[in-house]
Amino acid sequence: MEYEQVTPKSYPVDLIKKDWSLRKLYFHSPTKTMPDAIHDMEVLEDDVWLITNPKCGTTWMQELLWLLMNDCNFEAALSKDLELRSPFLEFEFLLSRDVEKALKIVEELPSPRVIKSHLPLALLPAQLWQKKAKVIYVFRDPKDAWISGYYHGLTVGLRHGTTMEQYMEELLEKETDKENPVLHAIEFYQLRNEPWVYYTSFNQMKQNLRGVIDDLCKFLNKTVTEQQMERLLKHLSFEEMKKNPTTNHLWEYARIRMPNKGKVVYNFTRSGKVGGYKEELSPELIAKADRHIDEILQENQVTLDQLLLLD
Ligand code: A3P
Repeated sequence: MEYEQVTPKSYPVDLIKKDWSLRKLYFHSPTKTMPDAIHDMEVLEDDVWLITNPKCGTTWMQELLWLLMNDCNFEAALSKDLELRSPFLEFEFLLSRDVEKALKIVEELPSPRVIKSHLPLALLPAQLWQKKAKVIYVFRDPKDAWISGYYHGLTVGLRHGTTMEQYMEELLEKETDKENPVLHAIEFYQLRNEPWVYYTSFNQMKQNLRGVIDDLCKFLNKTVTEQQMERLLKHLSFEEMKKNPTTNHLWEYARIRMPNKGKVVYNFTRSGKVGGYKEELSPELIAKADRHIDEILQENQVTLDQLLLLD
């Protein structure tokens, strides 16, 4: 993937004190006017923004958020693709490079809007940290997210013919500079005690989804009955989500045009494990990936366990 370094029109200086001019930020190339247009976007008071690194359980959380914001209307959820109920801010732009069209999808969404984005904090709309709309962040061990990204990349045709080893080597050499999942997470981890931010991890969702739902209900000012809770837990289970046509990105998949798309196909809801990378990567590659991760962690005096909320 090609990236361009971008400088946002303003930084969230009142939120996090650091030398923002040193924070290198990248956007998919060609960027056109998209970074500025996102910076200037209107954010609504009742918006819910879900921010993650790719492949961290975004869809899982997104389906949960949409249901909580829509009175647990399971029938509606099951009858419309998740991407149409809750758009991915950057998606249309990545396909068409049409800034206006991409933003219109979000602008025309009825409130309360549940919006997904993978952008780092400083590339999100400035109104997000001015109005302090609700933000939910999910972090996952980058090694698991990268593996998940490999299989997703094979399915959409992006990684066709690339072995896992080649993919990992290339990613660690080049892509982690442009889209660093640890740096991305640290900025939200620093905001985790803000009343408008709910920070969680894939591990927490695996260990105690009921607890995460309870927390989110408090955070979003929602209540669910025990019957709705039971249904949520079933609906959001790996087995159910695997066979749910509205949460497996079939709509997005149909819109992606890559010559090698579909030559090898993995289900979007693929394995859903914590630590699945251990079955996929050699000890040498794991050590190399850990070195990359540790370097950023140490620079920022935080541990992986802290970011995963295991501490
Ligand atoms: P794997 O490929 O490791 O299985 P995202 O939505 O951010 O792209 O994340 C996709 C990852 O979340 C995939 O990981 C997918 O299987 C996992 N996932 C989705 N729904 C899940 C669920 N209900 N339980 C556990 N994992 C889930």
